[in-house]
Amino acid sequence: MRSILAMEPGGPENLRLVESATPRPGPKQALVRMAAIGVNFIDVYFRKGLYKAEVPIALGSEGAGTVESVGAEVSEVAPGDRVAYAMPRGSYADYALVPSAQLVKIPADMDFRTAAAALLQGMTAHYLTRSTYALKSGDTCLVHAAAGGAGGLIAQMAKMSGARVFGTVSTEEKAAVARENGVDEIIFYTRTDFEAEVKRLTGGRGVDVVYDSVGATTFEKSLNSLRPRGLLALFGQSSGPVPPFDPTILNAKGSLFLTRPSLGHYVSTREELLWRAGEVLGWIAEGKLKLRIGREYPLAEAAAAHRDLEGRRTAGKLLLIP
Ligand SMILES: NC(=O)c1ccc[n+]([C@@H]2O[C@H](COP(=O)([O-])OP(=O)(O)OC[C@H]3O[C@@H](n4cnc5c(N)ncnc54)[C@H](OP(=O)(O)O)[C@@H]3O)[C@@H](O)[C@H]2O)c1
Repeated sequence: MRSILAMEPGGPENLRLVESATPRPGPKQALVRMAAIGVNFIDVYFRKGLYKAEVPIALGSEGAGTVESVGAEVSEVAPGDRVAYAMPRGSYADYALVPSAQLVKIPADMDFRTAAAALLQGMTAHYLTRSTYALKSGDTCLVHAAAGGAGGLIAQMAKMSGARVFGTVSTEEKAAVARENGVDEIIFYTRTDFEAEVKRLTGGRGVDVVYDSVGATTFEKSLNSLRPRGLLALFGQSSGPVPPFDPTILNAKGSLFLTRPSLGHYVSTREELLWRAGEVLGWIAEGKLKLRIGREYPLAEAAAAHRDLEGRRTAGKLLLIP
């Protein structure tokens, strides 16, 4: 089988296509023959060494395919099942070993590309809008990178809850995508001051919640865009990590709440995983949630996918096809 490994932490040039024997599943694992693989920003963090992992670094935290074989203690899935998953690392490959408790069966009429694009960003958008700050009708939210994979789904789910959605993007093309995602007010944060725009659009009050995946370049203005006692969900760092800061800032800016959440803590039981995945896949099947596949690459061209994602050239979801 082939897999993509980062031979050491660094740039996309460190990625190699490596041949190895197809592994056998351990007692609680399933071997999945990958049909489509989701590319996510977390893969960039692992490749760069921002998130620590053993070298050579196995990449890819999402995918869909068919169960080839299972370990002796596996009860959740059986060979032949069509499945998808998010979080266990090593999906940039022809085959992946996955803890069976993390696998979700996909609807019979859902294609693998859709399933591979749905879960990581979809369940992230789900926990952010349903649990971290459960949006309700009339709430206001600011979503950064609203044409992006995660941002686009957050915007759509926020609209499903009846919220008013402000979304930041860098280009006109991305603005069109963000509008399709349901964003009510587009803000070009590379050429206007998004804090001032949010204040203007909310009559000086600020929004109830900011979903910020951009990090370093947006953090401070995201805090400033909140109403008193509003919540900042800082869930990513596409522009780099936020430097250390004094927590009394949260007091001075209006008794704000700050959280730095992670999907793993919001799918911590099988029950919670099946609830979130079931809603996300169900909404897609019903046509309530639209997935936008931005681009597909052959597995061997994973480095090109990383360059495009980091280079801010993508809208929607990127897939690798083995
Ligand atoms: N904590 C969690 O549970 C969790 C789960 C999933 C994803 N995430 C985070 O969510 C974020 C988005 O992930 P994604 O896979 O959906 O990627 P994405 O949003 O599709 O791509 C990143 C986007 O961020 C924007 N951006 C702003 N400044 C940037 C910069 N300096 N460099 C690169 N991009 C920049 C760009 O949009 P514009 O050109 O419009 O600015 C870019 O297209 C990542 O930070 C990821 O770590 C977190």
